Amino acid sequence: MGFTTVERTGPDGLFTAVYRDLFARSFPPEELESEEALAAALRGGAANLFAVVDDAGAPVAAAFGEWSADARVQLLTYLAVGPGARGGGIGGRLLREAVAAWAERRDPCLVVAEIEDPDAPAHDDHGDPRRRLAFYEAAGAQVLEVPYFQPGIGGPGRRVHGMLLLVLHAAPQLRHGDAIDGEALRTFMEDYLEAAEGAVTADEATTRLFAALDRPGGVPLGPWRR
Ligand SMILES: CC(C)(COP(=O)(O)OP(=O)(O)OC[C@H]1O[C@@H](n2cnc3c(N)ncnc32)[C@H](O)[C@@H]1OP(=O)(O)O)[C@@H](O)C(=O)NCCC(=O)NCCS
Repeated sequence: MGFTTVERTGPDGLFTAVYRDLFARSFPPEELESEEALAAALRGGAANLFAVVDDAGAPVAAAFGEWSADARVQLLTYLAVGPGARGGGIGGRLLREAVAAWAERRDPCLVVAEIEDPDAPAHDDHGDPRRRLAFYEAAGAQVLEVPYFQPGIGGPGRRVHGMLLLVLHAAPQLRHGDAIDGEALRTFMEDYLEAAEGAVTADEATTRLFAALDRPGGVPLGPWRR
């Protein structure tokens, strides 16, 4: 069976199939935005979807990304391969294709992704967090040294703590030795918190995160260390 990568910049039948058949099955509900919110992000022009489809046009893997123009940060919001197709190299190929496309289109930019705590338990559908980290590291990802949490979809009470923020690509202008431009990351986080939670609050977790982003010299990055 042949596979082709296609792109969508607006919601359509393929987007619906990706959301329902891949994303809804691959992510816990607290990490997944609603179908309508992702459709609206596509309509707004700052999001796009890359999907790997089979000969019948059915999606077997997909990557959804959102661009923060003020920060010049591209977030890989969701990446999923259908449970029956995992481990065959499709996810790795799609990840590299998507990152290369964003890096070229948005240059100069950062491409980042957020993943679950590698010590969290494995789940039949959602996958194994340790293997997922290894998957990203094999594609060159490095971990930012920040106490990251995924902003709460709908409010701070729904945050997912203990997550890691990964850098998949950094333009030379945004790299300072072994660190990444903290200003770009702070603007990205402010935009992200505002979009997800409705406001940027001065709670303890946010204050700690911003203090880590504001470190002089940028935010260090490297391999994951517990
Ligand atoms: C993580 C994922 C995108 C990888 O895609 P894939 O096509 O299966 O991966 P590839 O075949 O290119 O690479 C194989 C590597 O992927 C990782 N992987 C494969 N299946 C996995 C699973 N069920 N859970 C976590 N990681 C997995 C492993 O690191 C594996 O290497 P290994 O076999 O040496 O352990 C895919 O498994 C998936 O959709 N998982 C569920 C959703 C998810 O975790 N998305 C990423 C978070 S944003």
